[in-house]
Amino acid sequence: MYVSDCIDINSAGHLTIGGCDTVELAKEFGTPVYVIDENEIRKNLRTFRDSMNEYYGGNGLAVYASKAFNCKEMCRICAQEGTGIDVVSGGELYTALSVGFPAENIVFHGNNKTYSELCTAVENGVGRIVVDNIDELETLSRIAAEKGKTAGIMFRIKPGIDAHTHDFIKTGQIDSKFGFALETGEAMEAVKKALSTPNVKLRGLHCHIGSQIFDIDPFELAAKVMLELFKAIKDETGVELEELNLGGGFGIKYLESECPKPYGEYMKNVSAVVREYCNKLGIKMPFVLIEPGRSVVGAAGITLYTVGSVKNIPDIRTYVSIDGGMADNPRYALYRADYEIVCANKANEDRSEIVTVAGKCCESGDLIQENTKLQKVERGDILAVLSTGAYNYSMASNYNRIPRPPVVMVKDGEARTVVKRETYEQVSANDI
Ligand code: LLP
Repeated sequence: MYVSDCIDINSAGHLTIGGCDTVELAKEFGTPVYVIDENEIRKNLRTFRDSMNEYYGGNGLAVYASKAFNCKEMCRICAQEGTGIDVVSGGELYTALSVGFPAENIVFHGNNKTYSELCTAVENGVGRIVVDNIDELETLSRIAAEKGKTAGIMFRIKPGIDAHTHDFIKTGQIDSKFGFALETGEAMEAVKKALSTPNVKLRGLHCHIGSQIFDIDPFELAAKVMLELFKAIKDETGVELEELNLGGGFGIKYLESECPKPYGEYMKNVSAVVREYCNKLGIKMPFVLIEPGRSVVGAAGITLYTVGSVKNIPDIRTYVSIDGGMADNPRYALYRADYEIVCANKANEDRSEIVTVAGKCCESGDLIQENTKLQKVERGDILAVLSTGAYNYSMASNYNRIPRPPVVMVKDGEARTVVKRETYEQVSANDI
């Protein structure tokens, strides 16, 4: 039913998630509210973790990309499931460290980490700082020297792969703000420099080709290109790098019509390519890292809203306005992202209407979906936007001074708040 295993319809005809009636959740926690299923998250984390064992003989680490959804409870879950965490800012790093997440298993990304972010990473012993440029390498070496430490680093490489996804979430091509280019020789130069830079230990190389990718081919190609670079480094410097981080990007189901491949299949196919290429090139099998974000949490989450005004403009369209919008989900405004929307209290009825679901921000572009199928709805109905577990809460803003919704985690019919609803006092707390 619908897009995810954790979603169903109960005998009252109400949509459920994780065994909880969404209409009851809306009553108890208010709307808008993000709801996320813990079992689904753990299942996905285990799929990635276990496939590192199955396909790489345990010589690897699945690292959750927390930009998709970061809060303390999510970091605790990752620690319990034995995955690493990828962070891209001082805030994400702070959250992971604040729950005692093992620093060795933190991967710190970013194309412009600040001096203080780098200091915090070095002081706390973050296992892998993914260095984006030479300036950062030099800064890091100085910071580590001052603190009497050696920083574990990887380099972010642009492998020059064209993954078929939205332009804004493509990252592996040469015209990207992230990392070192391969074609120009920049990557090789950086590696040579790192090998003679004090207080840093180059553990390996990283690439990430983009997000919401359905094909396996671009991942296989990226692995090949990266291993060829490992081989070239071995030939030119005599050093065999130990770690290969292949990034994230596995696609999830937003629409009923979409059919992503099981994640185990990506892992199996890519590992076969890694093994084959290592043999062919005469290099040792590296320790492999992957960084799934969306695929861990995306389909585990939904957002519940209450319908307000329903405005029919004859021969044009019907606007169904909800009590949230681009402030809690900017993805349609940013990427024209697809979503399925269901009326939670009429989930058994046909989605017979074609409507535009609009938010409450003072902006015409504040839409969640245009020309989408929906049951016939009226004021007071509860809408569920599906597959909002990734890049919704984490990308939410206070535009129009709208407080961010809470995050409710559900599990086996029980619900608990893991992030509280913001208050107006909190939204204006820093005003002087
Ligand atoms: N590793 C690195 C270095 C990344 O840059 C990203 C995503 C990931 C891992 C995780 O990728 P995932 O498995 O989630 O596809 N805000 C956009 C997505 C931006 C992704 C940025 N980087 C969206 O809402 O679609």
